Amino acid sequence: MDMDKLRQHAAKAGQSHVLQFWDELSEVQRSHLLEEIKNLDFLELNGFFHKAMDAFSASSSQEKVDARMEAVPQEVLGSATRDQQHLQQWEAQGFHQIADGKVAVLLLAGGQGTRLGVSYPKGMYDVGLPSHKSLFQIQAERILKLQNLAKERHGNDCVIPWYIMTSGRTMESTHDFFKKHQYFGLKEENLILFQQGMLPAMSFEGKVLMEEKGKLSMAPDGNGGLYRALGAHGVLKDMEKRGIEYIHVYCVDNILVKVADPVFVGFCVTKEADCGAKVVEKMNPTEPVGVVCRVDGVYQVVEYSEITLATAQKRSTDGRLMYNAGNIANHFFTRRFLQQVVEVHEPQLQHHVAVKKIPHVDTQGVLIHPDKPNGIKMEKFVFDIFQFAKKFVVFEVLREEEFSPLKNADSQNGKDNPSTARHALLSLHHCWVLNAGGHFVDENGTRIPAIPLMQDAGDVPIQCEISPLVSYSGEVSSETRPRNKATL
Ligand code: UTP
Repeated sequence: MDMDKLRQHAAKAGQSHVLQFWDELSEVQRSHLLEEIKNLDFLELNGFFHKAMDAFSASSSQEKVDARMEAVPQEVLGSATRDQQHLQQWEAQGFHQIADGKVAVLLLAGGQGTRLGVSYPKGMYDVGLPSHKSLFQIQAERILKLQNLAKERHGNDCVIPWYIMTSGRTMESTHDFFKKHQYFGLKEENLILFQQGMLPAMSFEGKVLMEEKGKLSMAPDGNGGLYRALGAHGVLKDMEKRGIEYIHVYCVDNILVKVADPVFVGFCVTKEADCGAKVVEKMNPTEPVGVVCRVDGVYQVVEYSEITLATAQKRSTDGRLMYNAGNIANHFFTRRFLQQVVEVHEPQLQHHVAVKKIPHVDTQGVLIHPDKPNGIKMEKFVFDIFQFAKKFVVFEVLREEEFSPLKNADSQNGKDNPSTARHALLSLHHCWVLNAGGHFVDENGTRIPAIPLMQDAGDVPIQCEISPLVSYSGEVSSETRPRNKATL
């Protein structure tokens, strides 16, 4: 595209200002900016903006959804605690599918991790475990272990391909990190990295914001950008070639994630679901978590801001919150369902609006750090496709066993930070040892009580970390079965 065409392209969409500082830019800056603009369809972008803003204003002025909401019905609900009698059968089904090579995992790792505040991808983060393993390494080792467990059960080698969605901001460093660590023992060809799309931040008037005079303010298009990216990079074709039928999709920041969990996969396959959500029980009415439920008969995630406190406080006859299926962005999809989403439904998915303070250069070229919101980022969400499922199921698991996300830096607040993630994993592994009949002794050989006294508030006294290569979810193999004294 020559310069004149480019100017026309921008002008036609009312975005001429992106070239306003062209004459001041160096050659390198110019080619950078050109690349960014060439990859953008400004008219499509304007369309996204108007649709997203219309939906946003409609939802702000709309009544809460309380009257149209229904809790997840019993018949689609499975539970890791209340369905004990079925767990083994679901697990066996899951392992059967894994051994047959029909299960893949798909990691959502395109986020910017702004709250955590590190400049590298969150998966590379070390929360300070005794092993100093990164989140990526923990997940890789869980995949390796699961492949081995499936082999032990079924006698054949199998592969769980790992698809990793990155963004323009995380692709290179993610790739380099895995390469540097020899893919943590996985085969390079079974790790498939692909990139999600990026969109520019916009002012409230629909103008593209500039991060620098020669750079648009670009951000990934949300974890629901997955569906466009799946189509754009031929990911589903690759899955088909490998014989994949079932996909477990999860977030990079959950240190306890049971990657390709055979019980969850087996539950969904047994129920012949095309779409499943793993959830944890919402702890209290004001916990800021989205809940899986039906609105006007259609499954979706309702955010805490969309309902009244009275509804959030409603309880069922068993005393539990009525809307308690807390979404943890941990999903099961069949490949066929994803195929249909990519081919038919993706364009219908609306972008959600996130109102933000976005640093930008003004018309004079001065960098402004706004002290109040000045624009929006547009994102799609991974759970936006629940509405298209023909058979949707929900599987409830225990939070202390499966969910501890890393969102914030330690200094910010006491929730979802490196310390809470580390403690969650250490506490769980401590329990695994006790449940396997082991116990711990102190440096004098004195037995430590099963529920140790906290040494100081907020700290975990027993630093017990078990490698995923030893145990995937607390199971004990003959080599690791504790003898009379268990010290790790
Ligand atoms: P979050 O919404 O918590 O975002 O992502 P984040 O980027 O990790 O953190 P903040 O909000 O900037 O502090 C939940 C999951 O979705 C992925 C993230 O990588 C994480 O696994 N994600 C998020 C994407 O893959 N792409 C996106 O555009 C956004």
